[in-house]
Amino acid sequence: MKKVSRIWSLAFLLLALTALLFGCGGGSKGSESTGGGDSSDGDGKKKLVVGTDATYAPMEYMDNNGNIVGIDIDIVEAIAEEAGFDVEFKNIGWEPLFPAVENGEVDFAVSSITITEERQETYDFSEPYYIANQVILVKKGSDIKSFQDLKDKKTSLQINTTGHTMLKEIQGKTSSKIIASETMPLAIEELLNGNAEAAVGDNSTVNEYIKNNPNVEVEIVEDDSAEKEYYGLMVKKGNSEVVNLLNDGIKKIKENGKLKEITGFDVE
Ligand code: ARG
Repeated sequence: MKKVSRIWSLAFLLLALTALLFGCGGGSKGSESTGGGDSSDGDGKKKLVVGTDATYAPMEYMDNNGNIVGIDIDIVEAIAEEAGFDVEFKNIGWEPLFPAVENGEVDFAVSSITITEERQETYDFSEPYYIANQVILVKKGSDIKSFQDLKDKKTSLQINTTGHTMLKEIQGKTSSKIIASETMPLAIEELLNGNAEAAVGDNSTVNEYIKNNPNVEVEIVEDDSAEKEYYGLMVKKGNSEVVNLLNDGIKKIKENGKLKEITGFDVE
């Protein structure tokens, strides 16, 4: 009898140990986790689901095979490699991206998102990993030379972006001359078809448009009054677990030169 009960307690101990081991391997499932993709796949690494608006070449866009690619994607993959987690990208779109982070549908968002004080009230951000600024796209020969020149001009931009905020400051919140499009390509379309006299967006993407469309009669207006903007990865407020993981990866790719290799410049 004694022997039997010892076997049983040994079996029980083994079972408890296995449970403990597996429990740890799957990544923490505490109440803090957003749940989006907080699971591990075959390699035992934690997998995070990353939301994006893949309409913003060269930062995040769809290639011809339907894959989500771009500079931001490469950066997140490098961060994940250094910090030891796996990623799965989801093309969510710009406006739905914000609630998706809030409700845990995704663990974080990468989308050329500028860290702003206003957004920091609702979301947490990683350390900055990229610098950009707003520029103006106009048809060649336009008399628009600065942001102030946009005061009474029909101007298109992507809705709820920092460019949108800037135009509201210049024209007034309720201006009817602001054309807020769902995506940046659609905002540029408004300029090309004559609905708008200017389009405003991040230099990262507007430069790429010019590069890819040398035959379109448009040019960029740079205005030094445009403030530097810092891109960050956006996380649900209070999810310090993911923020720390991302910052750990960002620190490492800043230190080992990988970030500069991807973007071509240093971010202080
Ligand atoms: N940097 C700007 C902002 O944060 C625009 C970002 C737009 N990104 C995108 N993938 N559509 O408001």
